[in-house]
Amino acid sequence: MRDAALAALDAATDAAALEAWRVAHLGRSGALTKLLRGLAQLPAEERPAAGAAANAAKALLEERLAEKQAALEGTRLGQLAADAIDISLPGRPVAPGRYHPSTMILREITDIFRGMGFQIAEGPEVEWERYNFDMLNIPRDHPARDMFDTFWVDANRDADGGFTTLLRTHTSPMQARIMEAHDPPIRVVVPGKCYRYEATDATHESQFHQVEGLAVDKGITFANLKHTLFEFTRQMFGPERKVRFRCDYFPFVEPGVDMSVEWNGRWVEILGAGMVHPNVLRAVGYDPEEYTGFAFGMGPERIAMLKYGITDIRLFLNNDLRFLQQF
Ligand code: DAH
Repeated sequence: MRDAALAALDAATDAAALEAWRVAHLGRSGALTKLLRGLAQLPAEERPAAGAAANAAKALLEERLAEKQAALEGTRLGQLAADAIDISLPGRPVAPGRYHPSTMILREITDIFRGMGFQIAEGPEVEWERYNFDMLNIPRDHPARDMFDTFWVDANRDADGGFTTLLRTHTSPMQARIMEAHDPPIRVVVPGKCYRYEATDATHESQFHQVEGLAVDKGITFANLKHTLFEFTRQMFGPERKVRFRCDYFPFVEPGVDMSVEWNGRWVEILGAGMVHPNVLRAVGYDPEEYTGFAFGMGPERIAMLKYGITDIRLFLNNDLRFLQQF
C-alpha cells in the first residue's frame, strides 16, 4: 500500500492532484486510515508490529507530501517573482508627437476662410493635363505652360504619344473640377500638395503645398476679392501688417494680381489672384455674362516661413527632428 501510494504521489504534479492524492491516501476514508482503524481487530500479539508499520508508512507519506507541496510552492513563488512588475519604477516617457508646421499653417489658413463662409475641398495629386492646363485657359501651345515645370506621369498617352497625366503643378485644376460638378454660388478653398520639376534651393522645392480659393456667383467683383484677401492677411499677420496688390499675369484670370506682405523692410509675395477668366467659366459650362468669380492661389510654406522666421524651404521636407520639434 505504501509503495503504491508513493508511486501515485510521483505522478501528481500540481496542487489539485496533490490534494486529490492526500484525500485518497491520508484522508479520513483513505486506505491507510481504514487500515489503522482495523488494528483493533487483530490478535493482541500482532497489534504492536502492525501498528508500528502502519504508523511509519503514514509518517513517511505525510513527509513526502509535505516535501512535494513545498517544492511546488517554491516553483510557483519563483514564477511569481520572475513575472513581477516593479510598479515603483518611473515610467518610460511617451513621445506624444506633434503636427508638422505645414499641417499647422494649412489648418490656420483654412480655418480663416471657413470663418468667412468658404467650404474645404481636396482633389487628386495625379491630374489630367486637361484640368491642370487646358481648362484653365492654357492650351498645349500656350507659352504660359513654361511657367510650370511639369513632372509628367507616363500613365496615359494621347494619339500623338504625348503624356496626358501629370503631377499637378498647382491646386488650380480643382477650380475646373468643382465648377464642373456644382452650380454657383461657390465659395471653396482647396489645400493640397503640388509638384514642380525644378532645381531646389532655399526658396524652391519640387514638392510644396498650395491653398486655392474660388468664389463664383452673380455680381462678384474685384472689390470682393480685395476684401477677402485683406481680411485674410489681417487675421493671419495682424491688422498692422502692410500688404500690397500688383498687376500680374496668370492665364486663368483677368485681371490678374499678386499680393505681397511687408516683412523686415522687404515685400514678400504670398499669392496670385484675379477675376476668373471668361474662358475658364465657359470651359465648365458657365455663362460669363451671368456669373463672375474671383480666384487665388497661395503658398502656405511661404506664409509659414514669414510667420516663424524659417529661412530655408527645404527644412519642411527633410524631417530633421531638431527643426520639427520647434513647432
Ligand atoms: N496657380 C498659380 C500658381 O501656381 C497661382 C494662382 C494665381 C492661383 C492666380 C489662382 C489665381 O487661383 O487666380 O502660380
